[in-house]
Amino acid sequence: MCGIVACRTSAPAVEFLLPALSRLEYRGYDSAGVALTARGRDALHTMRAVGRLAVLEDMVAMESPSPDLGIGIGHTRWATHGAVSEPNAHPHRDCGGAIAVVHNGIIDNADELRARLQSGGHRFSSEVDSEVIAHLVEEAYASCGSLVEAVRRAVHQLRGTWALAVTSANSAEVVLACYRSPLVVGSSETEHFAGSDMIAMIGRVAHVHVLQDGDIVELADHVSWTDMKGNQLTPRSPVTVDWDAEDAEIGVYEDFMEKEISEQPAVSARLLDRLLPGVANGLLWKNLALPSFRSIRFLACGSSLNAAAAAARVFRDVADIPARTIIASEFEEKVGGEVLTIAVSQSGETADIVSALRQVHGPVLLITNAPYSTLARGADAVIDCGSGPEIGVAATKTFTTQVIAGAALGLSAAAALGRSSGSEISQQALALAKVPDRLEAAHLTSFPVAHALAGELAQAPGFFFVSRGAGMPYATEGALKLKEITYRWCDAIPAGELKHGSISLIEDGTPVVVIDSGSPVRLHGAASEMATRGARIIRIGPEGSGAAFPVLADVEGPWGPLEGVLALQHLARSVAVALGRDCDKPRNLAKSVTVL
Ligand code: M6R
Repeated sequence: MCGIVACRTSAPAVEFLLPALSRLEYRGYDSAGVALTARGRDALHTMRAVGRLAVLEDMVAMESPSPDLGIGIGHTRWATHGAVSEPNAHPHRDCGGAIAVVHNGIIDNADELRARLQSGGHRFSSEVDSEVIAHLVEEAYASCGSLVEAVRRAVHQLRGTWALAVTSANSAEVVLACYRSPLVVGSSETEHFAGSDMIAMIGRVAHVHVLQDGDIVELADHVSWTDMKGNQLTPRSPVTVDWDAEDAEIGVYEDFMEKEISEQPAVSARLLDRLLPGVANGLLWKNLALPSFRSIRFLACGSSLNAAAAAARVFRDVADIPARTIIASEFEEKVGGEVLTIAVSQSGETADIVSALRQVHGPVLLITNAPYSTLARGADAVIDCGSGPEIGVAATKTFTTQVIAGAALGLSAAAALGRSSGSEISQQALALAKVPDRLEAAHLTSFPVAHALAGELAQAPGFFFVSRGAGMPYATEGALKLKEITYRWCDAIPAGELKHGSISLIEDGTPVVVIDSGSPVRLHGAASEMATRGARIIRIGPEGSGAAFPVLADVEGPWGPLEGVLALQHLARSVAVALGRDCDKPRNLAKSVTVL
């Protein structure tokens, strides 16, 4: 979940490293650090700081490293091993301070390696698993005198996951290695750059190469690719960096979450332009060339799980295919046979899904915003949601595009497998085509309503989100969004279930957000039972219905009241802002959860 960057440039390395780290801060923001060097220098200039990247930026401004330091590595941390402290921040160094390492991943055998290295006289200065790598490289370098060979020997001893960048005061190069943790590299003329995500490289290179497990890449005068045995490799196929600098800038918005909420109509329209032509004719589905199956299971976590629940309904209702959702961290392979697994993950790196898929033997389709990710490399087919970079930790536009991609796939599967009449599918495809306009209208309506409610709602200690049927994935998503960025407790409950226990929590003023869906009679009945007990009902409903957020379509598609998510996202963000929370970087969270 950490972000790593590296470069070998003719300009000061910090000019690349700091902006690149700022784009990767979504991966972790407990502490950050850089190590810099230059050809002919036999020292490293290392700076590390606890807190947000801004603290490191101030430190760099104060220490003003020599401009000739064009070789460097950097890290932004999400703590797993060891407290948040300066000694635990990366880069980690060897005993002599001549070798520096930044690492993303977990070294499972770190304790064992540490004990061996300590008994051989190595002195450790942190509690972090990653530090063993610096000492292993030191040990190997002493006998082989080559940084790339030393890294190769070091990674041979590791168990776990890693993306590494290593530099040394003596060798004017950076060595990269990866195993089950993402890393990309790109070059322009004589300059070389690397990062955990291509977003780090925006504006620097037109293409990147994605490292595969076991690759070791040396950034020296030239870039050389080898495998774990030292065999030369040709660089992996280039991938175009099709994001602009603007995509990763905050622009006129208060925060990235606000920007990303407002981008949803445009990214949805772009996605539908790509997918809709293959819906009614079934080609979107047929072109995936998946083997036949009897049922579908969706594997996902968090917001992606909620999106999967909306998509599963389309497969069940329109394509008549049994489809269920499974929390990836709870997955246990029990059924063999003809099951299609659809993994849903915006980052494509979520460790719970990576781990679950190791148990899966059948075909895997991935819905993702990261078509070159770890999950994408292992999938049989991939649908790219193409939402552009999502920097706010709270999923917004990626949730919406996942629902749309899942719905388009479900309709196309129904057409391809002859499970629904052509006219029904065409009608649903038409309804899907209207989603971007509906999202836009919901965005414009919801923003001021959420803003007006925020001050009052910020006083509430907790919230309920209530719906039925196709509305439940959205109620669950609304509750997740609000709790993750406001730190208030939130619970999502089907209306009929309230009276079986949870209603006892309703007090005077308890906010209950009701998302109209399913049977209005039961939903409104439940709302009035709660109102009678003092609940503050906030309804998300159709225009003209008297709802606080009048944003829903009169007739919803089988994917449910998707427009309502705009109201839910604005509500969560407005309450977070009223509480003075940083909605882009909520406490304890990171966007790409690469630990189990
Ligand atoms: O990258 P993924 O979609 O696999 O991530 C799954 C969850 O960690 C993610 O959706 C998380 O719940 C979001 N921060 C929620 O806003």
